[in-house]
Amino acid sequence: MEIGIDKIGFYTPHLYVDMNKLAVERNVEPEKFTIGIGQEKMAIAPLTQDPVTLAANAALDILDEEDKEKIDFVLFGTESGIDQSKSAAVYVHRLLGLNPQARAVEVKQACYGATAAIQMAKGHIALNPESKVLVLGSDIARYGLNTGGEATQGAGAVAMVVSADPSIMVLEGPSAYLTADVMDFWRPVYSDEAFVDGKFSNEQYIAFFSSAWEQYKSKTGQGLADFEAFSFHLPYTKMGKKALRAVLDEGTEEDSERLLANHQIGAVYNRNVGNIYTASLYLSLLSLLEQSEDLQDGSRIGLFSYGSGAVGELFAGRLQPGYREHLNVARHSELFATRKEVTVSEYEEIFQETLPTDGSSLDLDIDQDPAKICLSGIEGHSRQYVNKASNIEAEKISARAER
Ligand code: CAA
Repeated sequence: MEIGIDKIGFYTPHLYVDMNKLAVERNVEPEKFTIGIGQEKMAIAPLTQDPVTLAANAALDILDEEDKEKIDFVLFGTESGIDQSKSAAVYVHRLLGLNPQARAVEVKQACYGATAAIQMAKGHIALNPESKVLVLGSDIARYGLNTGGEATQGAGAVAMVVSADPSIMVLEGPSAYLTADVMDFWRPVYSDEAFVDGKFSNEQYIAFFSSAWEQYKSKTGQGLADFEAFSFHLPYTKMGKKALRAVLDEGTEEDSERLLANHQIGAVYNRNVGNIYTASLYLSLLSLLEQSEDLQDGSRIGLFSYGSGAVGELFAGRLQPGYREHLNVARHSELFATRKEVTVSEYEEIFQETLPTDGSSLDLDIDQDPAKICLSGIEGHSRQYVNKASNIEAEKISARAER
């Protein structure tokens, strides 16, 4: 039985800041951000979007009634979760109206969480071939204003349905993975901003990729020529290119050209969103699938996941015949096209807005947010969520009943 990605969706908030303008305000040359780091636009989450709503909005567009019935496992990878106990998956399960006969859990290991979720989903489908698993990766990356990591923030989510006989990509085995206890990036429970040893984190990323690649080659006997492309976890787009370059001298010039060109295509969405931690690898995969005109059915794509702390995994997927028909290119280009630019000072203001933590209530203006699923406020320490789409449906049903 073949298992893999049957559907994939993406959501990012409607606001962004231009990296050229941020560079000017921070007194650095714009090329440092746009070329040296490789970022054009950074998504900004208003208070009405949090990791729960981002994930629910990403999933909303891809699920049909059959999926909602068959999904019996919701796995939510995040490192910016909203609760130390209750999983974000439970909120999303309710907001999407999924079958109650389901498991719902959160998975944490920095940016690796969604990959762990994918591998768990694969195991679940192997045991339950008729079921489907909803895998979510959703994060708001925060390092703080005027910090070294500021240019590598972002916000967004990717949602994937994992099933048997998938329409988009079969996930191949074996996979190469490793763990080592390193302090390159972490976020203690008392902080809503990450701590990072930036240069060390870059080195660890490349070391983990090189090690996983050696392990992968010895497990599979494959080499660079067997891959049409590699998708990387992209904390910023230059990072993936640095890791790829570390192994390119093993292949031919043709391998280098192909893999570098596809890396660039796979970085298009990430360049315009920023780091979305757990979902960054899958956003890069989506960018490659939706923006490349040359990928052929059956192509093998390598996927490298890195979660600081650290866990790395390299695995591969094979594109299914007709995979393009199962993508949602028009929806995603509309999402990018309708975003609104904010100034650097507006971004700073939004960045500093917080929900009350003393139990008092706050109502948020969700009319300013075009997303269907929003955080509408907080009451007694409990976040209040609204699915505008289902509220509209509910209103229509009651209007019909009254007629
Ligand atoms: N024109 C072109 N390029 C320029 C330039 C200019 N005018 N000025 C500088 N550059 C280049 C530099 O040469 C450098 O390129 P290389 O990396 O290829 O040498 C690049 O711009 C960045 O410059 P610096 O190294 O001086 O930048 P920095 O000190 O501000 O730090 C950073 C960059 C370490 C990525 C920092 O933004 C950071 O700490 N980010 C958060 C941590 C991170 O993303 N780590 C990645 C690995 S960890 C991970 O993957 C998990 C995760 O999601 C966090």
